[in-house]
Amino acid sequence: MAFPVTRPRRLRRTAALRDLVRETTLAPGDLVLPLFVEAGLTAAAPVASMPGVSRLPLDALDAEARELEELGIPAVLLFGIPQAKDASGSGAWADDGVVQEATRRLKAAHPELLVITDLCLCEYTSHGHCGLLDEHGAVRNDATLDLLARTAVSQARAGADIIAPSDMMDGRVGAIRAALDGDGREETPILSYSAKFASAFYGPFRDAAGSAPAAGDRRGYQVDAANAREAVRETLLDIEEGADMVMVKPALAYLDVIRRIREATDLPLAAYNVSGEYAMVKAAAHAGWLDEQATVLETLTAIRRAGADIVISYHAKDAARWLQT
Ligand code: PBG
Repeated sequence: MAFPVTRPRRLRRTAALRDLVRETTLAPGDLVLPLFVEAGLTAAAPVASMPGVSRLPLDALDAEARELEELGIPAVLLFGIPQAKDASGSGAWADDGVVQEATRRLKAAHPELLVITDLCLCEYTSHGHCGLLDEHGAVRNDATLDLLARTAVSQARAGADIIAPSDMMDGRVGAIRAALDGDGREETPILSYSAKFASAFYGPFRDAAGSAPAAGDRRGYQVDAANAREAVRETLLDIEEGADMVMVKPALAYLDVIRRIREATDLPLAAYNVSGEYAMVKAAAHAGWLDEQATVLETLTAIRRAGADIVISYHAKDAARWLQT
């Protein structure tokens, strides 16, 4: 007797059947929108390499938060662009710094919106590196930890719901945890950019934040793109130091890393669909080469399928709109 043909197509025949057997969901509640807030701006300033994204003045935050609420997006990731930069990045921990001010305003008017503050010095340093430099231009690890810890405390005092260090210094999660606890902020969680790769895909972000290194690159602190095992090891170290949530960044060229980290920990896992990934889709859609909606929803679903619980994306508002209809 001939073996009956196995027919996977039986379950693909109608939309209702496909919906019933779908393995991965994508909802506005899974998304986080990154926001660039610039001190001293009077109007939104479009970022040329990221169509649809602007650097925002503090006054624009209220309207932005209302829109997110309507769309069901629960969280923002705040990046600050200060008016002045210096060698130590002192604008990062100033109590009246741009991120601190933005956080206070958002939390006062929209207490239910989660404010995640990116914690790094590169937007605040005159040299564009993520820490203090030694006389040879190398980033000093341990001296930088004190500044990161100070910044974390100032962000938490301003009301940040989650602190997200993206600098990639060794030991920073432990240092930040100790500083937060020492300030009575035991309840403030840390979302560590635990597997952050040295990536070409950050180019448009560096335009937006004015944070490209003046000399050299970030290969001395961010993970080599070729190394997945090292990314898992980095992540496990951050968990030992007290990370509450972990992250893979970028997302698309690193879906295998998302999967490996998903299998290595049960902590909430975020993936950052970064500026260059956004710019590629926007450029191809603009040229008429890709269907933007279909491409974005497929991409964000794939990041979830790889194992991310939370997807940080500049497409968040568009995606939420498309998911609602
Ligand atoms: C800061 C930081 C960067 C990004 C997030 N936090 C840039 C970098 O490391 O150079 C990139 C985000 C993006 O490309 O969307 N260290």
